Amino acid sequence: MAETPIPFVDLAAINDQVRAALDEAWSETLRTGGFVGGQAVEAFEQEFAHYCQAEHCIGVANGTDALELILAGLDIGHGDEVIVPANTFVATAEAVVRVGAVPVFVDVDPDTALITGDIVRAALTERTAAVMAVHLYGQPVDVDDVSLVTERAGVALIEDAAQAHGAELRNRRVGSLGIAAGFSFYPAKNLGALGDGGAITTQDSELAGRLRVLANHGRSSGSRYEHEVVGRNSRLDGLQASVLSAKLKRLDEANHARQVAAEQYRRLLPDIVKPLGVAEAATSVYHLFVVRCAIDREQVGQALTDAGIGWGLHYPVACHLQVGYQDGATKPLPASEELADTILSLPMHPHLSLGEIERVCLTLSSLEGG
Ligand SMILES: Cc1ncc(COP(=O)(O)O)c(C=O)c1O
Repeated sequence: MAETPIPFVDLAAINDQVRAALDEAWSETLRTGGFVGGQAVEAFEQEFAHYCQAEHCIGVANGTDALELILAGLDIGHGDEVIVPANTFVATAEAVVRVGAVPVFVDVDPDTALITGDIVRAALTERTAAVMAVHLYGQPVDVDDVSLVTERAGVALIEDAAQAHGAELRNRRVGSLGIAAGFSFYPAKNLGALGDGGAITTQDSELAGRLRVLANHGRSSGSRYEHEVVGRNSRLDGLQASVLSAKLKRLDEANHARQVAAEQYRRLLPDIVKPLGVAEAATSVYHLFVVRCAIDREQVGQALTDAGIGWGLHYPVACHLQVGYQDGATKPLPASEELADTILSLPMHPHLSLGEIERVCLTLSSLEGG
């Protein structure tokens, strides 16, 4: 008899845990009519700001908007360069292009797959306006190291925290480590909505005020009919905010379950796959569990598929090699290119059992010496 499949991520199990709160959120939203913005959004913004150790949180429509709004709020646009790791989801670069700035792709540390201060320093020019510190796969960038460079150069350090809700660097939460941070609440994220959603956190009151105006049609604070700037529509739904408030209460517990699963993987995985490194100063929340394949990746993927085990590739094409992002002057970025060719993401979610992890590891061990 075929074994039960092991899903890459189990959204049904995650959402089942908050089913009662979800039912309540539906009824309450229908009763109050707070569909867009409103009390549920304000409550979630306060809770999430507190969780991230940030002064302000602004709910927006998705994570890409969050990054684009931060750039616009900092007046970054035409003529500016923004340093972006080549190893990220393309949305980080997309936000830069959308405001009219140029993404300058840089390589990453081959062990952690993240940017470092030295990498950023080498890419600075007179036009550099910001650096996107992408806390990829759940691990925070060492922003203490990167900010030594950005502060001296007078360049903004923006966190892309779409994959790292709750991650910490030296006991400080992501979302509080740069001028502002963009979060995604895409359903599969560590904190996921039932559709699209996003947020910006920042310690800067003036920037927060500007971002609220920009995200709400440029509407002046406290006014319904005055539009002081050309803004846009990027708002969080009330229903999604209620869902996120319910899930936020369980986020630490869910992140802990991911960390336990990661430890078990590290203990049991055979040498043909090597997990990415996590820096000592960093506490990863393992949005993804990414390994580097020392043997042919297709063979690894096929063995997992044959055993009914879900897997993914994050990401098989580095951003500087994506057709839409080639400007003709592409430099080789060897670590990012090597990662793109060899990485593979194993099942990772808070409900993954030890038995399932053992099955994944046994399946991979069967490839050893083959
Ligand atoms: C690193 C990173 N940045 C930005 C985004 C964009 O978020 P969204 O899909 O909510 O627009 C994502 C989403 O997958 C992401 O992983």
